[in-house]
Amino acid sequence: MLDLNTTYAEKFVAKDELEAYAAAHAAVLERCQAGEERYADSQGWLDVDEWAGEEILSRTERLAEKIRAIADTFVIIGVGGSNNSARAVIKALAPKSARIVYAGNTLSAYELNRVIGELEGHDVVIDCIAKNFETLEPGSSFRLLRQYLVDRYGVEEAARRIVCTGTIGSPLDDLCQAEGYTFVPFATNVGGRYTALTEVHLLPLAVAGADIRALAAGAKEMQGICRGVTGVSNSAWRYACMRNILWDRGYRVELLGFFEPRFRWFSKWWEQLFAESEGKDGRGIFPSSLECSEEMHSLGQYAQDGTHQLFETFIDLLNPGEGDSLVLGGTDVADAFDYLDGKDFWDINKASFAATRAAHAEVLPVMTLELGQLDAEHMGMMFYWFAFACYLSGELLGVNPFDQPGVEAYKRLMFKALGK
Ligand code: PA5
Repeated sequence: MLDLNTTYAEKFVAKDELEAYAAAHAAVLERCQAGEERYADSQGWLDVDEWAGEEILSRTERLAEKIRAIADTFVIIGVGGSNNSARAVIKALAPKSARIVYAGNTLSAYELNRVIGELEGHDVVIDCIAKNFETLEPGSSFRLLRQYLVDRYGVEEAARRIVCTGTIGSPLDDLCQAEGYTFVPFATNVGGRYTALTEVHLLPLAVAGADIRALAAGAKEMQGICRGVTGVSNSAWRYACMRNILWDRGYRVELLGFFEPRFRWFSKWWEQLFAESEGKDGRGIFPSSLECSEEMHSLGQYAQDGTHQLFETFIDLLNPGEGDSLVLGGTDVADAFDYLDGKDFWDINKASFAATRAAHAEVLPVMTLELGQLDAEHMGMMFYWFAFACYLSGELLGVNPFDQPGVEAYKRLMFKALGK
């Protein structure tokens, strides 16, 4: 179950105002639900079956099994859209099969030394995920770790331990063919940050032991809702409309708030999705996150009393899962916390959330994404829901949600500085 509750924002955006805005822009929803020819090279993710259908799921599971047979440690070499989704799921659900190490997302010598240290004493397979194989971080990490494997295992065995996920016909594909590495095709018509439901992330997730079938099923369920439901009953559309009404009113920052730290890396995925999709042409809401309750003691002050240019979207995890209960017993020590005797931390945390939302809703617009459970199925739902909402929101804002010209500009300058 996933739904968006906008009632706490009604003080700022009345229900009929939201409905009128949605009705006035209904053509946007309609054309996005159908998919657009002008974005044909970026919309493969709209139909979950195209890149996460039965055939792909099966071949991914088979390859994951082969990898796990020779490795207990799998290194994801990727940055941005090439690592965020897998990391979001792995950090949230902590699947128990192979250990995952992250590289290709830093140029810090200290961090890369640490990564190499993490590989010592383990059986390793690496996966270089790079759409066009020109990004500096994954390219340099791949060279480093490839050499590490060759030194450790020899050329032939190292080749068995190298997987690359890249565009067919790209230099990475050529390299794989020349060196005998396993090649996994990067979804041709999906841009990096929209690849959650493609082999780019399905493979590392399957190796880690996450339930990729449940992930795909959750995403498919959301596909039905996002692409099938009309008007404000469509929660993704409601979210996109709210964001743009608020943008038009001068709100410039959105905080994705959550009271389960397990959403930390999901929030990084969300930040990338919205920042790269909407932040262009001098426009776009700045996406940031609010990790509660810790950041109630830092950013919370600003949210309550600072400049009111921000609004919040809280993820409310409705039902506890395994490990979500811990009762605080009594004590003989007079510590002034007697009012907590016998209470479960799950309920204490919920009370903190309810109080925060009530306090913030007085001064800023607050939306709540209600999520039934925290599991692979619901993460699949969130991936699809936010991706579709981002597409809608970018269209309402009047930007191309599928390119990232600013990122390209920095890359050009960096390559020049490094003498490429
Ligand atoms: O969403 C995007 O397109 C980007 O964030 C890319 O995923 C990121 O820059 C990594 O690109 P590549 O896989 O080509 O190295």
